[in-house]
Amino acid sequence: MPYKDQFAMLDKLLYIETFGCQMNVNDSERIVTMLADLGYAPTNDPSAADMILLNTCSVRGGAEEKVYKRLANLRIYKRDGKSQIIGVGGCVAQQEGEELLKKFPYLDLVFGTHNLHLLPDMVSGAERGERRSETAFIDNDQRLDLFPSIKGQSRLSRFVTVMQGCDNFCSYCIVPYVRGREISRRSADILAEVRQLADEGVKEIVLLGQNVNSYGLKTDNEPDFSRLIHLVAEVDGIERIRFTTSHPKDMSDDLIACFGNVPKLCGQIHLPAQSGSDAVLKQMKRGYTCAAYLEKVRKLKMVRPDIAITGDIIVGFPGESEADFEQTLSLMNEVRYMDLFSFVYSARPGTKAAELNEELTRSQKIVRLERLMELQKRITREICLRYVGTVQKVMVEGEGKRPGQISGKADNGRIVNFSGDSSLIGSFIDVRIIQAYPNSFLGEQLK
Ligand code: 5AD
Ligand code: SF4
Repeated sequence: MPYKDQFAMLDKLLYIETFGCQMNVNDSERIVTMLADLGYAPTNDPSAADMILLNTCSVRGGAEEKVYKRLANLRIYKRDGKSQIIGVGGCVAQQEGEELLKKFPYLDLVFGTHNLHLLPDMVSGAERGERRSETAFIDNDQRLDLFPSIKGQSRLSRFVTVMQGCDNFCSYCIVPYVRGREISRRSADILAEVRQLADEGVKEIVLLGQNVNSYGLKTDNEPDFSRLIHLVAEVDGIERIRFTTSHPKDMSDDLIACFGNVPKLCGQIHLPAQSGSDAVLKQMKRGYTCAAYLEKVRKLKMVRPDIAITGDIIVGFPGESEADFEQTLSLMNEVRYMDLFSFVYSARPGTKAAELNEELTRSQKIVRLERLMELQKRITREICLRYVGTVQKVMVEGEGKRPGQISGKADNGRIVNFSGDSSLIGSFIDVRIIQAYPNSFLGEQLK
């Protein structure tokens, strides 16, 4: 059934705002799917909604304040007479729990990262005027049966969750505290979902996990991540596979080899380095040195010379000297990321790094961030310009930016817009790149 038609018969409206990572985007899609059973159809207009949910993220600083501000704004939608339900889920909900109900008397629901399955019951209660907070972590046996199967909006490309949580406890990171321990989903369940999606016409699968390439490492009788990729590639109808997010320390030779021996695996990898300084990496507890990271990159480029590497960098970690920072810049020059997500360090409550002394002021960190972004802009531009004139296979996913254009992704993950008929949506088209923009390519269909 097309996504929109699923909601045609529903009589109540749900407005959901999502912050943060792909995990949250997926969770929100799952919420929309679950609440359709209670009669809620999605809307983009909070003032028209019968229920407003915020799906929150706390990975970087200021997250709580952002949510509090948003909640204060949303109060105006709590209409007189008709009771509109307001709820908060995700990582800030996980962290703050009941406190949120106390702070915001007009808030009805607080649900943590392990409690999505309780939401239908909580919403039914809220419709009767009950206020409820659920943030307990649940045990692993139960979690294995609660991995989401997601309806999702795209007909052609879907995320499939393969693991959740994180055991790495990088010293700056709040994820292990708000998402809980790492758990790998049963491969049989993953493959059943992929087969079902293929039957529905899905052509691209993005395997998703907080630390996707540690899949199966701590589980008996399950394949490791490289084997899982081979198994997914065997599913008929699936033509492209991507995955995110990988940890450099779990980037095994077998997984690197997949980029050479699994033709369906796209030439794109998100491999966050976080820093180019060994001293900082050690303080971050990342479990690799700069040289080890670069060695993985070298091997990746050997098996797939055109691989598009993206990454994350944290600037201004406690103790980061000018020399440390410059080592990060030289790492960037060596890796040559296609795109880089860079963040100013912010202390997260309860993490190890929050106990460290911070010598840099916020504005000093921002100066470094700007230097880094300037360098990255240049690298992205140089890499993208080299694609001009090349032919890329594009999986056409929808209408393009301009009228008469259609749009899709190249193998390396870049968006390509080009003139074409919408009847081509769903097919793979050879497109010559004629212009490179900062975030997309303009192309023309090969005649
Ligand atoms: N401060 C700044 N950036 C952070 N990230 C995670 N925790 C913090 C923090 N405390 C960044 C990392 C991670 C990305 C999702 O967010 O780069 O890879
Ligand atoms: Fe956070 Fe590190 Fe786990 Fe990534 S690997 S979620 S940065 S603790």
